[in-house]
Amino acid sequence: MSGTSTRDTTPGTVASNGEAPASGGATPSGNGPEPAAPASDGATIRAEAARLGSMLSEIAKIGADPEGGVSRLGFTPAERDAHDLVGGWLRDLGLEVRVDAIGNTIAERPGTADGTPAIGIGSHLDSVPHGCRYDGIVGVVGAVETVRLLTENGIDTAHPLRVVIFAGEEGARFGEPCIGSKIVTGELTERDLSTMRDAAGVTLDEALRRISFDPRKVGGARWRRDAWAAFLELHIEQGRVLEVGGTPVGLVDVVSGSTRLRLEVSGRADHSGGTPMAIRADALAAAAEIITHAEALARDPRNRGARLTVGRLEVHPNSITTIPGRVRLTVDVRDVDSDRQRALAAAVVRHATELADRRGVQLAAERIADTSPVVLPIWVRQLVAEASEALGHRYRVMTSGAGHDAQVVNALMPAGIVFVPSKDGVSHVPEEWTSASDIARGVDVLYEAMLRLDRMLAAVGADS
Ligand code: GLV
Ligand code: MN
Ligand code: MN
Repeated sequence: MSGTSTRDTTPGTVASNGEAPASGGATPSGNGPEPAAPASDGATIRAEAARLGSMLSEIAKIGADPEGGVSRLGFTPAERDAHDLVGGWLRDLGLEVRVDAIGNTIAERPGTADGTPAIGIGSHLDSVPHGCRYDGIVGVVGAVETVRLLTENGIDTAHPLRVVIFAGEEGARFGEPCIGSKIVTGELTERDLSTMRDAAGVTLDEALRRISFDPRKVGGARWRRDAWAAFLELHIEQGRVLEVGGTPVGLVDVVSGSTRLRLEVSGRADHSGGTPMAIRADALAAAAEIITHAEALARDPRNRGARLTVGRLEVHPNSITTIPGRVRLTVDVRDVDSDRQRALAAAVVRHATELADRRGVQLAAERIADTSPVVLPIWVRQLVAEASEALGHRYRVMTSGAGHDAQVVNALMPAGIVFVPSKDGVSHVPEEWTSASDIARGVDVLYEAMLRLDRMLAAVGADS
């Protein structure tokens, strides 16, 4: 791991890995109180990069694509195998491990104080198609390493520590992201399971049955607010901000929301040679115009900050010699501004309807998911910032373009998200990469912040 973890490295000075000092600006660095000594008391307890790397390699074997990368979609046997593997590691560390009705794996390490709510840490193990080994996985191996550090060093926490591996975080299969976390918060319920369909038309309740889960029991997965004190998620940045700034740690203030649409353009399939250009109703030509217009809307300076993607296109009959009669496409609109996010999605549908009319094709539009942006609580971020400073790791406060389970569970408990850099900023592709030493630094921050949360909340509880 990096050489920045010595206890006496003062935040804002040049760290021993040669990184430049913090520039202030968006970070509260330098404006706060003197950094306290790490809560990890005296002994230098640090994450082991090699251990993290080998956990990542083990997990990456599950759903590995022959051509590189990983395809481990939500609610598939591969996702379950990954949960089983990590659940076994947590059990070996002495935790009580259970799997809830939607497939979240939840492992508990008891606290010393009776009846206290838990501090949660974790992330997800599913991937997008042709994704990679870091998105979500880093937060899971970081949680396992946190437990290992506590256990190996005989450290107790006052609050129970609960590791959560959320099921189906990526919205890649059903459109809906963060399904496991939305079920535990009640944002999604059993009724929603039959309305979600993957590209093959399989509903989520059927997908659950296929992996031996009973969708009728999903209501039982709901969490009680009073069972939780806070939640911390470690994650890769999936952007370039940390790398460009040479900053090892990101602390998220706002997490983008996403509105997802499924559009179906219906024209008339016909012979590609026999049909004159003037009488065609080409669904793909219309879809192409809809897509470029949607992109132009998102590039309009009035929508600056919004991101719009058409990532899936199904063309029917998909033949060289037949005019396309039907096209289905998805639109993913993301923003940290909820009004702009929803207004842009509505504008896309409005313009697509006009374009379809003009071209003599039909348009059906359906909103398949809608997640709000979330502002995370400042006091949690401040506490994580202090943990980072105490460890001598520079940080910056930043938004997240991707969605995260912590943003969802923040509806029930205060949540924080810690980012580590992504090489070249790329993610959701096999080239996604973060060094084990960068991950280890993130785990150190997670560990330190979790201990500080535990002490701070225990002190508040004792006073009240
Ligand atoms: C989740 O990983 C997302 O795509 O935001
Ligand atoms: Mn993720
Ligand atoms: Mn992802």
